[in-house]
Amino acid sequence: MKALILAGGSGTRLRPITHTRAKQLVPVANTPILFYGIEAMVAAGVTEIGVIVGDTRDEVMAAVGDGSRFGAQITYIPQDQPLGLAHCVVIAREFLGDHEFVMYLGDNLLEQDLAAFVSAFQAARNSDQPPSAQILLKKVPDPHRFGIATLDEQGNVVALVEKPADPPSDLALVGVYLFDHSIHEAVAAISPSDRGELEITDAIQWLIDQGLRVRCELLSGWWIDTGKLTPLLEANRLLLEKMEPSISGDVDEASVIDGRVRIAAGAVVRNSTIRGPVAIGERTRIIDSFIGPYSAIGADCEVIQSEVEHSVIMESSRIIDIPRLEDSLIGSHAEVTRTEQRPRALRLMVGDHCQIDVE
Ligand code: TTP
Repeated sequence: MKALILAGGSGTRLRPITHTRAKQLVPVANTPILFYGIEAMVAAGVTEIGVIVGDTRDEVMAAVGDGSRFGAQITYIPQDQPLGLAHCVVIAREFLGDHEFVMYLGDNLLEQDLAAFVSAFQAARNSDQPPSAQILLKKVPDPHRFGIATLDEQGNVVALVEKPADPPSDLALVGVYLFDHSIHEAVAAISPSDRGELEITDAIQWLIDQGLRVRCELLSGWWIDTGKLTPLLEANRLLLEKMEPSISGDVDEASVIDGRVRIAAGAVVRNSTIRGPVAIGERTRIIDSFIGPYSAIGADCEVIQSEVEHSVIMESSRIIDIPRLEDSLIGSHAEVTRTEQRPRALRLMVGDHCQIDVE
């Protein structure tokens, strides 16, 4: 079994952050989103991983490397334009050969591990009616926003529709798929959709129309497509809740640390309160401040005389004299400061290298 992780795309819904960085490298709980996907693959026993990379390939390759730090062997597959999820299968043909593979959207996060999903497929492949594909479904309250599956009485998938106005079910496709070699014929047979992309839902529908079996599994834990601000902050919250607390940095006696808090080596906390779940990165300085629940502050940041809550602040940024910053995503090397007294909360999405001065 091999894996194909999709880490190209354009990330328009997370601009301005994605003007300067790959959305799969945005950190949640101070770890890039993509790393969780790679770790989940390795934990499921899949270590030969192809990673689709687009315009941000240099950054992704620098962050992930050859995969040895994860116990994986990574092959990069460049995609010149984001022409669709099924297009990624087309260009990965040589890497995939005729192996079975897991395809995983690099900006998705799942609570459940992948091992059970992979072994359910392998067991079904040894049955008298081996499936050609397996998809993962999750019940959602707003099915018109997702790819939606219809099942027959045996639980096999009979139809897939993208973002239906009149949804046939509430079962949304999660960004993890398992395929055998027949998907290569499917992606070659379909045409681009109205939005000009080769859609994986069309390729799976093609398999069904050929009489091939498509199985499904229902996801029980949470699943987050982190491509937008609110789900990204939610993913940060859920992962901070599960993080192992540890205090390696230097905390003075005037400071209070309360709850699930991780303070990395070299960080300095002075005269501040940190109420977990909170992660503070290496060499970050927290001075005369309050850091409230569900905040992740990257490495080499400075928070001085400020209150931060439910926010992600990326590396090397400075928050100075801000009475309250909440529900915010701050890029790296950004600076948010204030010159006049104005006691109100700020809610911001700030790109890398920005400077914001609140008057
Ligand atoms: P999407 O979120 O569907 O697309 P996108 O990255 O272009 O984002 P936006 O809608 O904000 O513009 O992509 C899901 C994942 O698949 C994501 O990690 C990017 C990746 N991807 C590719 O690698 N190649 C592609 O051609 C597409 C469409 C997506």
